[in-house]
Amino acid sequence: MHSFGHRANAVATFAVTILAAMCFAASFSDNFNTPAPTASVKILNINWFQKEANGNDEVSMTLNISADLLSLFTWNTKQVFVFVAAEYETPQNSLNQVSLWDGIISAKEHAKFLIHTTNKYRFIDQATI
Ligand SMILES: *[C@@H]1O[C@H](CO)[C@@H](O)[C@H](O)[C@H]1NC(C)=O
Repeated sequence: MHSFGHRANAVATFAVTILAAMCFAASFSDNFNTPAPTASVKILNINWFQKEANGNDEVSMTLNISADLLSLFTWNTKQVFVFVAAEYETPQNSLNQVSLWDGIISAKEHAKFLIHTTNKYRFIDQATI
């Protein structure tokens, strides 16, 4: 009656049921969190602006990036990936997107920050031909 197979089946079924209930609870409890992150980026200086041999333009800037991402952190948040991207229109492309900076916030203690930096990734605009 209580063979090894029956006991193993009962334990496995119980474990999967608990796991499913916990998954549901984790996903359901996120609905009660309404995050309201704020961020601001200030361009403090254009350090240099140059035309490359192939016609592309490149600029280096000094930025102040500040953000308050505290509301994104719940018990269910492991880390938050943040990035600053420049989006602009040129006659050639209706949308240009260039990543200027990014970071990984791995703890709530670091979710409110002000960073004084230059663009981490090169800001190059495609040459118009
Ligand atoms: C930029 O950030 C620095 C400190 O990180 C601060 O001293 C400076 O006042 C900030 N500049 C502006 C315009 O917010």
